[in-house]
Amino acid sequence: MRMRKKKNLVSRMEACGKLLIAEPEAEKGQWRSHMPGAAKLRLELGCGKGRFTAETAAAHPEDLYVAIERVPDAMIVAMERCQGMGLTNVFFIDGDAAALDRYFAPGEVDLIYINFCDPWPSVKHSRRRLTHEGFLRSYRHVLREGGQVHFKTDDRALFDWSQFQFPKAGFELSEVTRDLHEHGVQGVMTDYEEKFHAEGIPIGRCVGTMGPLPDVPLETGLSRRLTAWDIHPVAEDEIGPVLALLQSDPEYVSLEGSQPDQGSLRRDIAALPPRCTVAQKHYLALWRDGVPQAVLDLVEGCPRERTLFIGFMFLAPERRRRGEGREIVEAVLQAAGDAGMDSARLACLKNDTAGHAFWRALGFGDLREDRLTGEGSAPVWIMERLV
Ligand SMILES: C[S@@+](CC[C@H](N)C(=O)[O-])C[C@H]1O[C@@H](n2cnc3c(N)ncnc32)[C@H](O)[C@@H]1O
Repeated sequence: MRMRKKKNLVSRMEACGKLLIAEPEAEKGQWRSHMPGAAKLRLELGCGKGRFTAETAAAHPEDLYVAIERVPDAMIVAMERCQGMGLTNVFFIDGDAAALDRYFAPGEVDLIYINFCDPWPSVKHSRRRLTHEGFLRSYRHVLREGGQVHFKTDDRALFDWSQFQFPKAGFELSEVTRDLHEHGVQGVMTDYEEKFHAEGIPIGRCVGTMGPLPDVPLETGLSRRLTAWDIHPVAEDEIGPVLALLQSDPEYVSLEGSQPDQGSLRRDIAALPPRCTVAQKHYLALWRDGVPQAVLDLVEGCPRERTLFIGFMFLAPERRRRGEGREIVEAVLQAAGDAGMDSARLACLKNDTAGHAFWRALGFGDLREDRLTGEGSAPVWIMERLV
């Protein structure tokens, strides 16, 4: 349900002006100057009307408290609450939880609260959930080592799903409960929590403590996900069968402009984008029953440190339109996430309309038009998505 527009929002905001940080980017690395000697910096994402904000800040006068909320009509209620209680250790950002690294310096935050975030129940919106692995990885940019995320929700499906997200982003789980108030009210309640609790809905809670990222090499992550396939880099004595696979596709020539041969395949295997090293490159064949059936050319950290570049993906013609291509790409994206990437990029030939539709259906969006370097310099769509 949409919030009714609050009357006199501007004048009410002005009346709470001391609590509002109008330019949070300017505070990056400087937050403790608002409260010299603060023991911790606690950060709340999506504070809503701020019952939890006010009561937690009051309970920890030794700590600095920053609340982010992207709906000013809700945030003004939280601000007035804190001002009414005379709190001087709370500040508000009218902003987006997705932009934390613009507001805070690495290691500046000790603890993040996520209370009753929007569940985004549709799978296609899952990456908008504030406990999605991608969001959790973004919190790593501002949390200190050993910092924590405290998460509460009434949504059982979101809670259970989140239990898998935390470890993937390098957070160790503790204090996991699916019925926090089973034996009486525990800790400070939020506005939503009070309502749900009164309706008898159990509240889930857990704490994630930031440790090292799981270090799963890309090829290992891929093999773990595509267990029916034997996946490994193309060795010299495998050039013949891999070439035969590529040559089996009549569409290959019309798209690429020429028939692949041993020379072109060897060049593709060795090719490196500018400033990339051999360690970043994975030219892989995917085998079934001793026969290569798919090929992937992947470059980690290209063109940015946390982007995986999908240079080439090929599936045997007879295996297409069975969902296997999608399955392979999804495994590549998940393995990229495990290997520390946060996005995937590719260049799709503009004359490859079927390919373009395929990547779009997999969530890749057009970033810009470009041309391939080298011979022919064919026009391409540069496409990208988060992993
Ligand atoms: C369901 S309400 C819960 C409010 C409060 N935490 C509570 O438990 O009562 C979720 C709140 O998060 C805010 N929110 C959702 N996504 C956000 C984001 N990306 N950045 C900042 N606020 C967000 C919404 O505007 C909303 O006020």
